[in-house]
Amino acid sequence: MRSWRGVFLLILTRAVCEALYPGPDEGWQVYTSVADVEGKCVCTVVAPAQTPCSRDPRNRQLRHLTERVQNVTQSMELLDLRTSRDLQYVRDSEPLVRGVEARVRTANSNPRSLSPKGFQDLKRSVSQLLPLLPVLQQYRADAALLLDLKEEVRNLSLALATIQEELGAYDYEELQHRVITLQTRLQSCMNKLGCGRLTGISNPMTVRASGSRFGSWMMDAIIPSSDNRVWSMDGYFKGRRVLEYRTMGDFIKGQNFVVHILPYPWAGTGHVVYNGSLYYNKHQSNVVVQYHLRQRRVLLQRSLAEAGYNNTFPYSWGGWSDIDLMADETGLWAAHSSLARGGSLTLSRLDPGTLEVLRSWDTGFPKRSAGEAFLICGTLYVTNSHLAGAKVHFAYHTSTGSYEYADVAFHNQYAHLSMLDYNPRERALYAWNNGHQVLYNVTLFHVVHGGGGGGGPGEA
Ligand SMILES: *[C@@H]1O[C@H](CO)[C@@H](O)[C@H](O)[C@H]1NC(C)=O
Ligand SMILES: *[C@@H]1O[C@H](CO)[C@@H](O)[C@H](O)[C@H]1NC(C)=O
Ligand SMILES: *[C@@H]1O[C@H](CO)[C@@H](O)[C@H](O)[C@H]1NC(C)=O
Ligand SMILES: *[C@@H]1O[C@H](CO)[C@@H](O)[C@H](O)[C@H]1NC(C)=O
Ligand SMILES: *[C@@H]1O[C@H](CO)[C@@H](O)[C@H](O)[C@H]1NC(C)=O
Repeated sequence: MRSWRGVFLLILTRAVCEALYPGPDEGWQVYTSVADVEGKCVCTVVAPAQTPCSRDPRNRQLRHLTERVQNVTQSMELLDLRTSRDLQYVRDSEPLVRGVEARVRTANSNPRSLSPKGFQDLKRSVSQLLPLLPVLQQYRADAALLLDLKEEVRNLSLALATIQEELGAYDYEELQHRVITLQTRLQSCMNKLGCGRLTGISNPMTVRASGSRFGSWMMDAIIPSSDNRVWSMDGYFKGRRVLEYRTMGDFIKGQNFVVHILPYPWAGTGHVVYNGSLYYNKHQSNVVVQYHLRQRRVLLQRSLAEAGYNNTFPYSWGGWSDIDLMADETGLWAAHSSLARGGSLTLSRLDPGTLEVLRSWDTGFPKRSAGEAFLICGTLYVTNSHLAGAKVHFAYHTSTGSYEYADVAFHNQYAHLSMLDYNPRERALYAWNNGHQVLYNVTLFHVVHGGGGGGGPGEA
C-alpha cells in the first residue's frame, strides 16, 4: 500500500499544524508528531494516494472488505480456541468408549471370562456410552468445517492483497459475494458450536479482589467483542453506583473507570448488561429498569407482574435476590418466583425492547433453595448452594419444558457466591465470590439424547 502513497515531511507552526490536521476519512494519516526546539510542530504525514485509484469508489469498498475479512478472521480465531478446548474433552472421552467396547468384544468371544452379572453390567455401560459416538463424529465434522472456513479466509485475504496491488483485475462483486457468504457460514457455524449441554466448569480464575462480600460484575452479553467494558456493582441493598471500566485490564488494575449514579437504587445482584443497557431490579419493587449506559439514562421500566420482591423469594443467600436478570445466546431472561407459583423458580423470557414477558416456564425448583441460576442456550442451570461444596444439580430445558438432575461440580474457592452468571459472548461464568471477582470456563457438549436442551445438531 505504501508504494502508491507519497510520504511528506511538513514543518509548520503548531497552530497551522493543528488546523491542517487532516481527518483519516480523507485518507490522510499523521505518522509522527513532535515539537522542535523553536516550538514548531513537526508532522510526518502520509498523504492519500495521488493516483486516480484513490478516487475509484472501489478503493473505499475494498478497504471496507478488507476490514470485514479481518473481522471474520478474528471471530475465527475465537472459534478455533473454543473448538480446541471442547475437542480436548472429546478426545478424553473417546478412549473410554473404545475401551469399554473392546472389553465387551473380548468378553463376547470368551464368555466364560465374565460372570453373567459382569456381562450384563458391561453391556449396560456400552449402551449408555454408544450415543457418544455420533457426537464424536459430529465434532470431527465441525472441526473440519472450521478448517474449510479458515482456508477460505486465507484465500480471500490473499485475493484482497492481490487486488489492492492491481486494482480492477478482480471481479469486485464476486469478491464481495464471497465475503458475505463466508460471514453467514461462520455465523451459523459459531451458533452451532456455541450451543450445547453444560458438562464441565473449569477451575476458577480470580480476576480481582474488590468490594464487599456481595456484589455483581459483568461484561456485555451480546455487543460486538470490540466493546470490552466491564461493570462492577458492589452490594445488594439500595446501591446506585455502577463502576464502568474501559477494559478487563483496567478492571484488574482498578484504573480508568467512570461512575454511573443510577436514578433508582437496585435490589439484589441479578443485574445484566445486554446490548449496551444495564437491566436491574428496582429496590423494594418488582420493577425491571433498563438504563442505557452510553446515553446515561433510563429508557424503560416495567413491573414484572406477579414476581415476588423485597426478600420474599431470594436465592439461598438472601440479599434481596428475588429477581435475577440474565442473558444467553437466545435473549434476555428473568428468574423469579411468586406466592401464586408456590415459591417455584419461574423463568420468563423478556423482550429487551419493551420488557414485556414473552413467555414463562415454571421449573418446579424451590427458588429459596437455589444457590444461584444461570442460563446457557435456553437451559437454566441451578446450583444447590451458595456455600462451599456447591454444584450445579438441576437443569431445566425451555426447549422441551422438561427438567433433569445434573451433577456438574465447580470450585467455590472463597465459599460464598452472591452472583453467578453466564456470558454467551465470552462463553464464561462470571462470579462474585466473597469479595473476589472470579471467572470460570465452561465445556458445552452437543446433545444427542435425553430430552433436548441446547439445540445441538444431534437433537433433530
Ligand atoms: C469490524 O468489527 C468492528 C468491531 O466489531 C466494527 O466496529 C466494524 O464495523 C466491523 N467492520 C466491518 C466492515 O464489518
Ligand atoms: C484456496 O486456494 C487454493 C489454491 O488456490 C485452492 O486449492 C482451494 O480450493 C481454495 N480453497 C477454498 C476454500 O476456496
Ligand atoms: C441491539 O441494539 C441495536 C440498537 O442499539 C439494535 O439495532 C439491535 O437490534 C439490538 N440487538 C438485539 C439482539 O436486541
Ligand atoms: C419491604 O420490606 C421492608 C422491611 O424489610 C418494609 O419496611 C417495606 O415496607 C417493604 N416494602 C414493600 C414495598 O413491601
Ligand atoms: C479459559 O480458556 C481460555 C482459552 O483456553 C484461557 O485463555 C483462559 O485463561 C481460561 N479462563 C479460565 C477462567 O480458565
